[in-house]
Amino acid sequence: MTTPLIIDTDPGVDDAFALALAVASPEVELIGVTTVFGNVSLEDTTRNALRLLALLGREDVPVGVGASRPLIHPHPHLSSAHGSDGLSGFAHTLPEATRGPDLRDAVTLMRELLEQADRPVTIVPIGPLTNIALLLAAHPYLKPKIGRLVVMGGGVNGGNVTATAEFNLWSDPEAARRVLVEEDVPTTLVTMDLTRRCAVSAEWLQALAGKSEVNATLVGLTPDYLATYRRFLGWDGMAMHDAVAVAEAVRPGILRATGFPVDVDCSYGPNRGALLVDQRLEVSNPKTLDIALDTDLDGLRQFILDRL
Ligand code: RIB
Ligand code: CA
Repeated sequence: MTTPLIIDTDPGVDDAFALALAVASPEVELIGVTTVFGNVSLEDTTRNALRLLALLGREDVPVGVGASRPLIHPHPHLSSAHGSDGLSGFAHTLPEATRGPDLRDAVTLMRELLEQADRPVTIVPIGPLTNIALLLAAHPYLKPKIGRLVVMGGGVNGGNVTATAEFNLWSDPEAARRVLVEEDVPTTLVTMDLTRRCAVSAEWLQALAGKSEVNATLVGLTPDYLATYRRFLGWDGMAMHDAVAVAEAVRPGILRATGFPVDVDCSYGPNRGALLVDQRLEVSNPKTLDIALDTDLDGLRQFILDRL
């Protein structure tokens, strides 16, 4: 029995690999993609999602257009590690989409997909959490139809877009707090602490490119992102943040998670958007969030390589 899957995304180079992994995995059925601002503007993330699904031969999957900005404040940052168009400047090399986005916006599309689902749906948010916060606020009765959220975001020991905040949570801290702290949907948070450790090498990318034309095209989208991560990691590799989250949705338990009480800093200071994880052994707060912090790193890289 396949698991129905919705991916909420801001493609984004690592988002592209995440979508490809979902499409290549028989354990899940990709029933919808929703787009959100983030790595680049909503217009560009939506164009990229449509073209990537054309590349992957899955233009049957509806694309619902979501939030163009955070809940509370305008997005302060649009220059991207992913290049000016979100795909290292190569978005135009992807196949033209033969269809546009769905007539339903992201929240409406997710609502209808959840209503129609005959079994619990896994939602994988791999961008800012604005659409998910809006969905849960507008349609709380649908929570039982969501089997789990597998969220890529947060950093326990530091950030990437600032010293303490990871990009997805930093892009809309209030939405992240709603989803990760205030709501009660079963959620696994895949943090950049783990996704950074899962980074793949240039050799891994070349091996992937040699497997198929589609994979070669995906790898062709990486130059700007790879250049960013060479500096960020200090070696010739790149983090496949979002693909790690999809791997957990495809094979639950491939990542090892532990429950911690958490909060998200929504102040306007230097830590805005930071994930706060209470690691004290004795804590009074009974509400915890499952945080994925470990896996068989080589096994995970091989799993993704084998699947794509
Ligand atoms: O911090 C990494 C996350 O931010 C990934 O989802 C990447 O695509 C960017 O959106
Ligand atoms: Ca992303």
